[in-house]
Amino acid sequence: MKKVIIANWKMNLGFRDSMKLATELAKQVPEIELGSKEVIICPSASSLLLVAEILKEHLFGLGVQDIFWEDQGAFTGGESPKFIYEAGCRYAIIGHSERRQYLAETDEMVHQKTKAALAAGVTPILCVGETFEERSRNLTDNVLMSQAIKALSGIDLLPNEQLVVAYEPVWVIGSGRSLDPSEAQHAFRIIYQALLDLFPLHVVNNNIRIIYGGSVDGVNASEFVGLEHFGGFLIGGASLRVEEFISIIKQTK
Ligand code: PGA
Repeated sequence: MKKVIIANWKMNLGFRDSMKLATELAKQVPEIELGSKEVIICPSASSLLLVAEILKEHLFGLGVQDIFWEDQGAFTGGESPKFIYEAGCRYAIIGHSERRQYLAETDEMVHQKTKAALAAGVTPILCVGETFEERSRNLTDNVLMSQAIKALSGIDLLPNEQLVVAYEPVWVIGSGRSLDPSEAQHAFRIIYQALLDLFPLHVVNNNIRIIYGGSVDGVNASEFVGLEHFGGFLIGGASLRVEEFISIIKQTK
């Protein structure tokens, strides 16, 4: 599977700045040797179509930062997996810790959204990760296993379907501090083990990527690239800075 680098622009850019950043990225793409890598841009919903238009001739894929679990109906404010597919999105971030924290998203909602994404042909980017308090209480392994299992139980992946699981320690996100790679390695192994409890080995190895997110930048990215089960990155802050984002893409192998 190709390594995947996902830009999560969060709620940082209005449509003008989104257009500017997308245009700049599109301009620089021919200079990057993407080769065996996939780069996915997740703008905010209000900029999605504009960014899609700018990137349509380029090698970038498009994603959203959240979806609802129904395709259509009276769900004010919801983003339909089916409609975002029609808009050109093939990826959806699901269960990001900021949504779990500020919008009280539960594991059950994350499960429903993951199912709905797959049914619509959208690859879920399922976010899991422990808080600082959970880590201090030695609960990291339990949290990762429980979040992965609750989100994915009862879900089958067809041969043409994919899943991305993003390990994002909540306490590292947006903090500017770097996680010790040995901790990320441990988390990858726990997640891989949880996936093996849920899916056949060939599905885990051929259809699922485990990626890392949390204050990744041009300096620390290389520390994660060689880890066992490393499938790519989910990048927040550094994805807003063209040079730095490109440097991360280049370093991802
Ligand atoms: P960060 O965000 O790179 O700014 O820490 C990552 C994320 O929340 O996906």
